[in-house]
Amino acid sequence: MNIKVNKNFENIKETYLFSEIASRVRKYQEENPDKKVIRMGIGDVTLPLSKVVVDAMKKAADEMGVKETFRGYPPEYGYDFLKEAIANYYKEMGKEIPASSVYVSDGAKSDLGNIVDIMGDNEIIIPDPVYPVYVDSNLMSGHNISLIEGNLENGFLPGPDQIDHAVNGAVIYLCSPNNPTGAVYSYEGLKAWVDFALKTGSLIIYDSAYEAFVVEDVPHTIFEIEGASECAIEICSFSKFAGFTGVRCGWTVIPEELESDGVKISKLWSRRQATKFNGVSYPVQRAAESALSPAGKAECLKNINYYKNNASMLAVLLKSKEIEFTGGVNSPYIWLKCPKGMSSWEFFDFLLNEAQIVGTPGEGFGKSGEGFFRLTAFGTYEATKEACERLDKLL
Ligand code: MLT
Repeated sequence: MNIKVNKNFENIKETYLFSEIASRVRKYQEENPDKKVIRMGIGDVTLPLSKVVVDAMKKAADEMGVKETFRGYPPEYGYDFLKEAIANYYKEMGKEIPASSVYVSDGAKSDLGNIVDIMGDNEIIIPDPVYPVYVDSNLMSGHNISLIEGNLENGFLPGPDQIDHAVNGAVIYLCSPNNPTGAVYSYEGLKAWVDFALKTGSLIIYDSAYEAFVVEDVPHTIFEIEGASECAIEICSFSKFAGFTGVRCGWTVIPEELESDGVKISKLWSRRQATKFNGVSYPVQRAAESALSPAGKAECLKNINYYKNNASMLAVLLKSKEIEFTGGVNSPYIWLKCPKGMSSWEFFDFLLNEAQIVGTPGEGFGKSGEGFFRLTAFGTYEATKEACERLDKLL
């Protein structure tokens, strides 16, 4: 062939982090078929969907099999019933978000990757370590990225005061509770970012996929911060909140106020979605709606507490070993310093070979993640308990 391919792909790692881990684990398992591997790598849920959600999905599937209630293409931005349920979810958090600012999608990852389509060539500011999608999608588009370092000193919560150059109209990615570190911005910490964005004419893309894990007095949504609706987009997900990793549904909030160079950001996103996306299926949207009902939320919360208990078990073990870590309180992730000065990938191999535990090497989340390691609490209670026993013997 004689076509030109996107050369920007040369700037990203050949394999996506979680695909790389899966392939290493597959190889290990093929070579060691008798070993029982405990998977604490990708943050994938293990509890089944709640009954409320399954019932809603079944009812909607039945409707699809009847002439009078069958539905074809869904609206590109989501059915009103779901957009209103999401707006109501914000209302319960004390924030008025009009349903018209909510865009339903097949998950936060898609929106985080796709949002790049509507951006021009701006400076991109991303804390490091970070969920790889922000960096990869911007590199694919040839954008320049300024990374700001998260470390133990700043609690893996870098602030705008760490930026050492003048900024004019940057796109800033923030994730809180953070993937991978489990750290959470306080109201003051997040306000510093909002103030910075307003002052510099920047846009914040705020990933709140883990907000349902928040228990302390920290923000669930960036819109709790004054001024955020003039400078922030929020992207959220049903994956971690309602166990939808295999069902696929999420949403993005784009306030009407957001405008640059006389163009509304919401208009660009609507246009992008209408062109490239055909919406989320009706049974999935009904399932998502039911997860936000009082009964659905109660069941989802029960599952979240189950994972939190796993996180507590891991935290107790690490404390007993005097291993430094962040996360595990408002987050399903525990981010630990690799013992004995091991690099992230050395620790990955060590854990896999010596204890058959799979985690995620911090380096996979960026340069500042080197020397750290992420464990997820999304496993079963039994597997997490067994992992703690194995870690207790090994470390
Ligand atoms: C993770 O393990 O970081 C997440 O599960 C990835 C994702 O949400 O796409």
